[in-house]
Amino acid sequence: NGYFTYDPGFMATAACESKLTFIDGANGVLLHGGYPIEQLADKSDYLETCYLLLNGELPNAEQKTDFVDTIMRHTMVHESLTNFFRGFRYDAHPMSVMVGVVGALASFYHDSLDINNPEHRQISAHRLIAKMPTLAAMCYKHHIGQPFMYPDNSLSYSENFLHMMFGTPCDDPKVNPVLARAMDKIFLLHADHEQNASTSTVRLAGSSGANPFACVAAGIATLWGPAHGGANEAVLEMLEEIGTVDNIDTYIAKAKDKSDPFRLMGFGHRVYKNFDPRAKVMKETCDEVLAELGLDNDPLLAIAKRLEQIALEDPYFIEKKLYPNVDFYSGIIMKAIGIPTEMFTVIFATGRTVGWIAHWNEMISNPYKIGRPRQLYTGHTARDFVALDKR
Ligand code: CMC
Repeated sequence: NGYFTYDPGFMATAACESKLTFIDGANGVLLHGGYPIEQLADKSDYLETCYLLLNGELPNAEQKTDFVDTIMRHTMVHESLTNFFRGFRYDAHPMSVMVGVVGALASFYHDSLDINNPEHRQISAHRLIAKMPTLAAMCYKHHIGQPFMYPDNSLSYSENFLHMMFGTPCDDPKVNPVLARAMDKIFLLHADHEQNASTSTVRLAGSSGANPFACVAAGIATLWGPAHGGANEAVLEMLEEIGTVDNIDTYIAKAKDKSDPFRLMGFGHRVYKNFDPRAKVMKETCDEVLAELGLDNDPLLAIAKRLEQIALEDPYFIEKKLYPNVDFYSGIIMKAIGIPTEMFTVIFATGRTVGWIAHWNEMISNPYKIGRPRQLYTGHTARDFVALDKR
């Protein structure tokens, strides 16, 4: 036992080397390929950021056009996949559906099993980025009983997602550009976050040589938990439960009470001990979307703003360095756009897919070993078997 470092929760363990993303949690810094997230959110877009994560550099104009064309060419899913959706109950949680259908993509693309071929790895990455919005929108359409909408490749990535979510064959309104831009920022701000639980899961699954679709399905399963991607859904449920600004103090007291398991959802982060830089951009985007939709007086936003203010001034939150994280404002934006709460984590998964696949590819492209942690054994020492009639 003495040979192993005991580090539950990997608080002090670097599991790999990576060139993709840098986080300075103490100062609230997040860089992709060296570029600050604030600049990418302001000047770039989701697909350009995908290119950066996959290739290490921003694309020039020609590379960008080629990349966008390639991704949009892969947006359709095999028609047989529609049968998978029909096998799910209409009220299935969309994350449970996503775990299944993304894993099932490997059964359609046999080249994905050939993980040692860089071209096959690249096409799997493109397929995943392209098909995630289609699959996500199909989950929603199945849930509400509307026909699946085919992708429209003349639209941008995020416009296309909103078209597949909210269009129908009888009424397919033009997507509001402010909402499409907000959607794009949500995808971009979730694109990668180094070795978080789901990305570490993808790497660990990939270290056995598993195919990329199976690895990303494992990442989706991990993201579902409320301490990770499920938090955006939990934030909105919490704001709805609080109901009015007058109730906030009760919930703050609950969050501070150690005998109460309640936590303020959307606050705190394993790495950021400062403002999550993504939360700042999210907050600005939230204001833009609510202004565009004339929802500036949204009661949930009022609760969120007051909650944030109180938490930032309260000694408990200051001492524990609990700041709003990326999930705090994303839920309000998505609700305003009309996306139902149970789809929030699916949208996180859609944006994070590039991070998962970029990490997987980085690992496979370099020398790696199967991930195999050890343990500190705390069970019985050796003892003799006891016959059934003697127990
Ligand atoms: N509300 C109240 N107290 C909290 C909260 C919170 N949201 N988060 C942490 N604490 C307290 C916790 O009780 C502990 O107190 P003490 O030291 O007295 O035992 C202390 O702060 C440290 O917390 P921890 O659980 O040891 O910290 P961690 O790094 O293991 O957990 C976290 C990080 C994100 C799981 C946690 O802060 C949390 O549960 N937050 C709410 C859920 C949430 O918003 N998750 C989204 C994370 S960002 C998106 C993503 O990357 O997935």
